[in-house]
Amino acid sequence: MLNLVIFGAPGSGKGTQSERLISHFGLHHISTGEVLRDHIARGTELGKIADSYISKGQLIPDDLMIRVLEHVLDANPELVQKGVIFDGFPRTIDQAKALKEMLAKRGSRVHAVVGLEVEEDELVRRMLNRGKETGRADDNLDTIKNRLQVYHTQTCPLRDYYIGEGKYHAIDGNGSVDEIFGRIHDSLHQRVPELAEA
Ligand code: AP5
Ligand code: MG
Repeated sequence: MLNLVIFGAPGSGKGTQSERLISHFGLHHISTGEVLRDHIARGTELGKIADSYISKGQLIPDDLMIRVLEHVLDANPELVQKGVIFDGFPRTIDQAKALKEMLAKRGSRVHAVVGLEVEEDELVRRMLNRGKETGRADDNLDTIKNRLQVYHTQTCPLRDYYIGEGKYHAIDGNGSVDEIFGRIHDSLHQRVPELAEA
């Protein structure tokens, strides 16, 4: 069992690398962005609130976001025991502290944080490309600029938080999907004792 956080700027490849990690390590995937987009698509009350933040590139307030994640974990109690990739959560120090408590309550913890580090020009290129290909609503230049600004001010401090906890794996997120996955794989195998024993 392994609980991973996949961390990085918008467009850094969290979703893409999560797919590889799921098939390689047999983990489950919780993407808070996908949970929210599903609510928006279904027109729920939460979806309406989420849309008002996502469309501006802002974060959903911590107390609401923490309740949403707690609800996902309560609805799927087996996930944490099997191992989860948390994609897009936490995004603030308060969310990181809440995740620690949520997992401790369930007899578990975050084992490692995979931090995808990608140059900003490349992030913008990837998101504009996806915007054209899929029509994802927040992949337009104005919203992308806000998302990056929010990342630098509110989410980046988490890097030091997890370095302090000895859990941060800095991964060069430039290059091909396979090359990046190889770096993640090697770093986890070198530094996560649960994997070395497996
Ligand atoms: P979320 O859905 O988490 O979006 P994000 O963090 O902005 O990240 P993305 O999903 O855009 O990128 P990614 O890192 O997953 O990259 P991907 O693999 O897709 O959140 C959306 C919004 O929801 C937030 O802005 C916020 O409003 C709200 N929200 C969510 N969680 C929240 C929380 N915890 N608290 C508060 N608010 C929250 O790759 C991007 C593109 O690049 C793809 O097209 C992909 O095919 C391509 N690509 C990937 N890897 C490569 C590569 N190596 N080379 C070339 N192209 C590549
Ligand atoms: Mg994503």
